[in-house]
Amino acid sequence: MIAQISHDIGGLEAVDIIRYIQQKFGKKAVFSTSFGIEDQVLTHLIAEAESDASIFTLETGRLFPETYYVWNRTLEKYKLSIQAYYPDTRAVEELVSKKGPSSFYDSVDNRKECCYIRKIEPLHRAIKGYKIWITGIRAEQSMNREGMEMVEWDDANQIIKIHPLFHWTLVEIEQFIKSNGIPYNPLHDKGFPSIGCQPCTRSVQPGEDFRAGRWWWEDKSKKECGLHVTTK
Ligand code: ADX
Ligand code: SF4
Repeated sequence: MIAQISHDIGGLEAVDIIRYIQQKFGKKAVFSTSFGIEDQVLTHLIAEAESDASIFTLETGRLFPETYYVWNRTLEKYKLSIQAYYPDTRAVEELVSKKGPSSFYDSVDNRKECCYIRKIEPLHRAIKGYKIWITGIRAEQSMNREGMEMVEWDDANQIIKIHPLFHWTLVEIEQFIKSNGIPYNPLHDKGFPSIGCQPCTRSVQPGEDFRAGRWWWEDKSKKECGLHVTTK
């Protein structure tokens, strides 16, 4: 299946990949958006292709105000439905009551615990029942992601994952955003190539890795929250 899809989409434009997913999977496709610059391109393409893919976002409760701003602008422009998934109330209450609101700075384990509660568990609910999961991952984002494939079997989540912009460069993304008037997070113009939760994201300096500002205080972790697990 994975090999077949990879073969079929080889050489296709991103919008035609979205059309292919539509033909093959229809309503069984789901797209996760964090409202980052890549995801905005995908939302635009999904609207253009009139795809039936569902769209969801993981509302961790710790997002930047700018993320809510672009979320609203996206709804206004595309009139699409974006399903919000929140963390389990009891789990967050317990975590914050026990360890305070910033336990993620104390250890990688604590950080992963918070990511699990605020992102991974809600993700499981969000992708349940779907056959293919569309993301905005690009190979250029990190060494770790370079080792991923454009179409992959996600064993942990038992779903096919597809990254239609996998081979796009940041420059190509930016040009597409500008030439199509796509709303984007204003933080991207302030040195934030990768935007996650507010307390765990800082801007990067010219020449630094795209993901250097994510969990910047950690040096030995793979700088992944667990949404996108690799075995490599
Ligand atoms: S993360 O794993 O470090 O948080 P990143 O911000 O690079 O991921 O985004 C990669 C892809 O993961 C996005 O294109 C999007 O598909 C998905 N994603 C990341 N964060 C979220 C979120 N909060 N809600 C929905 N999807 C997300
Ligand atoms: Fe928690 Fe930070 Fe992970 Fe967001 S990125 S879920 S605030 S540890």
